[in-house]
Amino acid sequence: MAEVFRAFVVAKTGEEFSAGFKELTREELPAGEVLIRVAYSSVNYKDGLASIAEGKVVRNYPLVPGIDMAGIVAESSDARFKEGDPVIATSYELGMSHSGGYSEYARVPAGWVVPLPGGLSLKEAMIIGTAGLTVGLSLHQMEKLGLKPENGPVLVTGATGGVGSVGISILKKRGYTIAASTGKASEHAYLQKLGATEILGRDETAAESRRPMEKERWAGSLDSVGGSTLSYLIRTTKYGGSIAAYGNTGGGNVATTIYPFILRGINLLGIESANCPMELRQQIWQHLASDYRPDLETIAHEVAFEELPQALATILKGGTKGRVVVRVER
Ligand SMILES: NC(=O)c1ccc[n+]([C@@H]2O[C@H](COP(=O)([O-])OP(=O)(O)OC[C@H]3O[C@@H](n4cnc5c(N)ncnc54)[C@H](OP(=O)(O)O)[C@@H]3O)[C@@H](O)[C@H]2O)c1
Repeated sequence: MAEVFRAFVVAKTGEEFSAGFKELTREELPAGEVLIRVAYSSVNYKDGLASIAEGKVVRNYPLVPGIDMAGIVAESSDARFKEGDPVIATSYELGMSHSGGYSEYARVPAGWVVPLPGGLSLKEAMIIGTAGLTVGLSLHQMEKLGLKPENGPVLVTGATGGVGSVGISILKKRGYTIAASTGKASEHAYLQKLGATEILGRDETAAESRRPMEKERWAGSLDSVGGSTLSYLIRTTKYGGSIAAYGNTGGGNVATTIYPFILRGINLLGIESANCPMELRQQIWQHLASDYRPDLETIAHEVAFEELPQALATILKGGTKGRVVVRVER
């Protein structure tokens, strides 16, 4: 292992915030049983927030952001892993209070490490990343509550984003009819290629209304947006349908009434992927490598490590399309 290696570091001294590339030594990495030589990471909305002073994601500075990583075990003091194993580590405290994937080397607790499922390369695993785990968990919960393709269309909001794109692609693979809501009029062809057969403008799905319920339209939904969009989903979900609420790119306050819940029996499911228990996490990753495997080629956009600051700025502006994978290895 090299004496020094490259990492993207955020720091705060007093009121002064900085974010940029730095050379680190292994002594500067946090404690953990597994040292990973990182090959790929990815760009998630949370990583964008971690890269700015007012993001409220990072809990202790200095820190390497990056909630996702895939790489090769360089050292392990835990019997479950050995040098040379290909592995994935996503979320938990990564990129928040424990240095994450924007680094040529990362040291993590063994309990956070998932063996790379057969059938996926390290790069493919990062195209899927936390976005895929979130969609996988959402589908797992919704299907447990009875969602199936015959129930009707599923609406994906924030559709061109990372989770949205992976969501459309996985729903298509599972035989669902998909509607997509987007603010990007220029990306309809992309969404159709992924599998959406109906496209709604963001204005329609973010519109406020005084009516407690509207025409029943969606058997289910994957919601990256929150705010008034989640209010819209609650008003328009079909009898017994489910909403997977995991995002807040459109805001945190949700206006609703009790009526869709007590008159239509809809299910509002809170989805939290960061602390998803390891057993379920490994199960979902097995699905992501096989029957949930999304259309990786259409979704992916690779950037070099040096291009990371630009990619982080773009996701904060809502300008990302699909999944951005970061090539960390030289
Ligand atoms: N709960 C969890 O475990 C979990 C896990 C992963 C992600 N998330 C959350 O899920 C959300 C999506 O994450 P991501 O990584 O996919 O981010 P992303 O790639 O930036 O996707 C978000 C999409 O939302 C839409 N959008 C952006 N700003 C908006 C606004 N002001 N109003 C309405 N729509 C807006 C855009 O899509 P269009 O232009 O197509 O409308 C954007 O591409 C984030 O809130 C993230 O924190 C949560």
